[in-house]
Amino acid sequence: MLKRTIVSDAVNKVGQEVRLCGWVNTRRNMGKIVFIDFRDRSGLVQVILAPKELDDDSREVIKIIRPEFVLEIIGMVNARPVGQIKEEQLTGAVEIMVRSVKILNESETPPFEIDNETLQANEELRLKYRYLDLRHERMKNNIIIRDKIFKYFRDYLSQKDFLEIETPILCKGTPEGAREYLVPSRVYPGKFYVLAQSPQQFKQLLMVSGMERYFQIARCFRDEDSRGDRQPEFTQLDLEISFVEREDVMNLIEDMQIETIKDLFPYKHITQTPFPRFTWKEVMEKYGTDKPDIRKDKNDKDELGFCWVVDFHFFEKTDGGKWIFTHNPFSAPKTEFMENLMKKENIEEIITTQYDLVLNGVEVAGGSIRNHQPEALRRVFEIMDLSEEQIESNFGHMFEALKYGAPPHGGIAIGLDRLVMILQNEPSIREVIAFPKTSDGRDPMMGAPSEIPSEKIKEANINIL
Ligand code: AMO
Repeated sequence: MLKRTIVSDAVNKVGQEVRLCGWVNTRRNMGKIVFIDFRDRSGLVQVILAPKELDDDSREVIKIIRPEFVLEIIGMVNARPVGQIKEEQLTGAVEIMVRSVKILNESETPPFEIDNETLQANEELRLKYRYLDLRHERMKNNIIIRDKIFKYFRDYLSQKDFLEIETPILCKGTPEGAREYLVPSRVYPGKFYVLAQSPQQFKQLLMVSGMERYFQIARCFRDEDSRGDRQPEFTQLDLEISFVEREDVMNLIEDMQIETIKDLFPYKHITQTPFPRFTWKEVMEKYGTDKPDIRKDKNDKDELGFCWVVDFHFFEKTDGGKWIFTHNPFSAPKTEFMENLMKKENIEEIITTQYDLVLNGVEVAGGSIRNHQPEALRRVFEIMDLSEEQIESNFGHMFEALKYGAPPHGGIAIGLDRLVMILQNEPSIREVIAFPKTSDGRDPMMGAPSEIPSEKIKEANINIL
């Protein structure tokens, strides 16, 4: 059988017979001749079904072909007459004169037109039929570029001697920041795992292991209300490095971003390089927010305004009057504030090593240098007013590990969904995730969350109130 040609390759095969497989994007009748915009993942091509060119079986078939039918087509690639070349289309210089067409599968009429822009369509419907929504060119391109960015980062870090290491999703619950999803243990009644809110503790433990340079494209789970730039499960490019200072991590990430944009988005431009670095105090004074949008022209969809924000306060007071970390309890303070931390003095003045990367007014990454000395980490929890028992039961494993020659280390995590959203000029991270949840945390396609049969609930040792 003739090898399959993908649509985008058809332009290179003028004068040859090809076999294409894909979907009917649109159908137009011109008298007895049918024109089809024929689609596969690589693009669209015009296909002509003229009765006098078709074999007998195919002549019957064309009567029933409708949009989204799956077809196998054998036909001749012809150059289009000069006046009819569609410059804007990848395959606009050719058309396929079909000899034979076979229906591989039929399709019902989709609940929305795949050919039309779906951004304005009802989101519930789009998510219920996400597999159809993803057939839309914009959505398909978002998924393709997401793949390209992921691959780029993987290759980049691999070249710099990072190891990609997976860490557990089923973890121990700790008060590390976000609210966690609970997973009941069937084997240990009354006990729970939680879903990882980030690989933070494991990546630090990998530094204790001597792995030195770790990264992971990590799925994170947080039981928070969704927003345009927030999902209950999302993806981080998470990394951690031993023997580094704050500048080393920031420079690595900055170079990686600049290279990525140069190679994958050459038509985009960055407002300022090196990325400007603001202290939290400066940024609040200048912009009134710690996520400033520094673009010169906010209407220019190809402008990328990156900046760093550093020197955040380590602690702030909760409504209840207790101290809570502003970013990450595992962060080290800046060296000049270490004494304050150790003595638990002037707590409001302690500045953390935390760095946030902001792009077009959105926080796309955050990280810090960590407290690799157990006593410094203990002070953080003491300042938060955790009792000795609470510290031990929640974080005992970290203190234990830090006793055995933990190297100085630091890292960062990039919110990949947010980054891809901005690079693709999308209004929400839902547009760049294949199967996201609705803004109120549901999956209308599968129907999650859903009720569970009572036997299963019993088996999980749960009592529903
Ligand atoms: P943090 O909690 O700041 O840091 O997360 C890092 C980045 O992840 C993205 N992000 C999200 N994206 C989508 N939906 C969410 N709900 C969501 N929450 C966060 C943001 C954010 O900047 N362990 C630390 C990192 C470290 O210190 O190395 C952490 O998780 O873009």
